[in-house]
Amino acid sequence: MKKDIDKKLDIYKLTTPEEILKYYQDWTKKDKYNQDMVHLNYVAPKETVLVLKKYALDSNCKILDAGCGTGLVGVELKKFGYSNIDGVDFSQDMLDLVPKNIYKKIEKIDLNKPLKFNNNMYDVITCVGTFTYGHVKSHALDELIRITKNKGLICFTINEGIYEKYGFDKKIKELTNNKSWNVKEFFKSNYIVNKEVNAWLCLAEIVK
Ligand SMILES: C[S@@+](CC[C@H](N)C(=O)[O-])C[C@H]1O[C@@H](n2cnc3c(N)ncnc32)[C@H](O)[C@@H]1O
Repeated sequence: MKKDIDKKLDIYKLTTPEEILKYYQDWTKKDKYNQDMVHLNYVAPKETVLVLKKYALDSNCKILDAGCGTGLVGVELKKFGYSNIDGVDFSQDMLDLVPKNIYKKIEKIDLNKPLKFNNNMYDVITCVGTFTYGHVKSHALDELIRITKNKGLICFTINEGIYEKYGFDKKIKELTNNKSWNVKEFFKSNYIVNKEVNAWLCLAEIVK
């Protein structure tokens, strides 16, 4: 039976950046976002870092956590000894909840727009929970690849409900066919366990 992912969470109904920012403004009040992630058993940060650590063997590698939100991925990265991490997100309300000493730098940026970062800046990019309904679109992968070094890694989730609808299937094929990257891992991860929403988890090595 086909799962109706579109109806699983209220935020999946939103389409504009203004609606999304307002939603996060309310969701962060009294730390509700972080509490909800515990209750929903949102395992994506842990799942992503467990995959990444098999490939990112240098704990000093320079990491960008793109769409870092409240820092849940940064917290997982820290547990495995990674310490050279920057975080970016377009919601100041989410960034305000990032614990201290997780990221070296935190910046408010829109990942759907061209990024101000230089080429080849990062060894690793993580992007977890951010390729989802109304959030960041597949073209953003081009910019994330641009700022990643040759042989660097990009590790991200794509909500199963938008994988084809937003053209991530085609984008991943295109980047593979034009040899922008080699996909090393690609599987359906558990993502939001208590809502039975899965995500594709992809880890790719960048080729330049
Ligand atoms: C579900 S949260 C995931 C946050 C974090 N990575 C985690 O796993 O908890 C999605 C994040 O994407 C951010 N986001 C949505 N659209 C964005 C955009 N256009 N540019 C940058 N961040 C965006 C939101 O502000 C939010 O923090």
